[in-house]
Amino acid sequence: MSSEQSIRRILISEASRHEGETVELAGWLYNLRRSGKICFPQLRDGTGIIQCVAVKSALPEETFEALKNLTQESSFKVRGKLRAEPRAHGGYELDVESAEILQRVSEEDPYPITPKDHGIDFLMDHRHLWLRSRRQHAALRVRHEVIKGIRDYFDSHDFVLVDTPIFTPAACEGTTTLFEVDYFEDEKVYLAQSGQLYSEATAAAFGKVYCFGPTFRAEKSKTRRHLTEFWMVEPEMAFADLEDVKRVGEEMILFVVGRVLENRREDLKALERDVTKLENICGPFHRMSYDDAVLKLQAKGSEIQWGGDFGNTDETLLTEDSDRPVIVDRFPASIKAFYFQPAPERPEVALGVDFIAPEGYGEIIGGGQRIHDLNLLLQRIDDHGLPREAFNWYLDLRRYGSVPHAGFGMGVERFVAWMCGLEHIRETIAFPRMLYRTRP
Ligand code: 4AD
Ligand code: MG
Repeated sequence: MSSEQSIRRILISEASRHEGETVELAGWLYNLRRSGKICFPQLRDGTGIIQCVAVKSALPEETFEALKNLTQESSFKVRGKLRAEPRAHGGYELDVESAEILQRVSEEDPYPITPKDHGIDFLMDHRHLWLRSRRQHAALRVRHEVIKGIRDYFDSHDFVLVDTPIFTPAACEGTTTLFEVDYFEDEKVYLAQSGQLYSEATAAAFGKVYCFGPTFRAEKSKTRRHLTEFWMVEPEMAFADLEDVKRVGEEMILFVVGRVLENRREDLKALERDVTKLENICGPFHRMSYDDAVLKLQAKGSEIQWGGDFGNTDETLLTEDSDRPVIVDRFPASIKAFYFQPAPERPEVALGVDFIAPEGYGEIIGGGQRIHDLNLLLQRIDDHGLPREAFNWYLDLRRYGSVPHAGFGMGVERFVAWMCGLEHIRETIAFPRMLYRTRP
């Protein structure tokens, strides 16, 4: 084997373990500075960015020329010695010994995203490329951490991951936001709004479960908090009530915030996130009833009346003097889905709960206690004008070993927007789907 072949390819993130070694890096041109006899191609490989130093006198003519004339986002490999350089971003530089250009981006058709300011529509149309930019990259890394944190939390608390179907025969969160799909033989199905109903079944099989997948809402809301396709984690617990939902939701949030702070500092910095806001989040979260929330909002000048749903401004008002999420519970049953358990002695109130994030990020968790009595559930299905046949299997859960149970759903993208301090939810998912956006 020649010495060339024995050189190891490493990731930029591994540089600190290979100081002084000759290594190979592979990636794309992020930036390039040059002066006559020396040039500095900056290489990004998805794990970091490193500055390479190419000296004319130390390289074959073609190698130096090729590097010197590289265009933005051209793909290439470089080999050379890693040197600690305290002034460099990331702390290392690579002294180039050889290079191989894989694909050079043509000057005729240059990489469309340049350091100048582009409008949001242009960037969204080029989302497939925009993902390579610093901030977008950082936000999606935070998203990965959030998802991993959520899974680690549930996995280490005896929850079993049981995923639920996407093609579903019935509504969970109301018929007005269903996407209808043509199935075979004239059958209609809907894209899942939530896995909850199925998780209630799996909770009766496993005790504590969660599902974690894409969910769909045909909401005609064009706000900075709404996607038509988003990812939701939904834990469901047998022998549990509203209080358990509040406890587990709070614990999980604190755990995930901790993970993000522990592992994604660099990305939060790239996003210019004020991390003290995240560091200050601690338990217990502020808790209030819907009744009190309405009074509080009215005192702050909101027009809300008892029985109304919170608007975005109401949610922001409710948390404006809080450094952590606010937990609101016991909503009017009339504004909540059919499956909520009514409060004892006060059936017009549902044992539902919302977690509202601070800094204007709005509702991140919705959940509560489910009806476990067969006749009550039948009545609620009728009251909501839902077809009993579609829910027959769901009613079985109340016929065969029904127990009090409860759970919640948390939207990943809203949580990530909050962690990253992003203006708009569209940057929290690689390829957002919104009212006016289904491409690329
Ligand atoms: O409050 P929601 O509609 O609750 C449910 O779907 C329940 N079935 C969950 C359960 O109890 N298992 O949605 C839950 C969360 C919201 O708090 C929000 O974080 C997110 O899902 N969410 C959205 N995120 C982005 N875009 C949308 N259009 C969203 N709608 C809900
Ligand atoms: Mg909700």
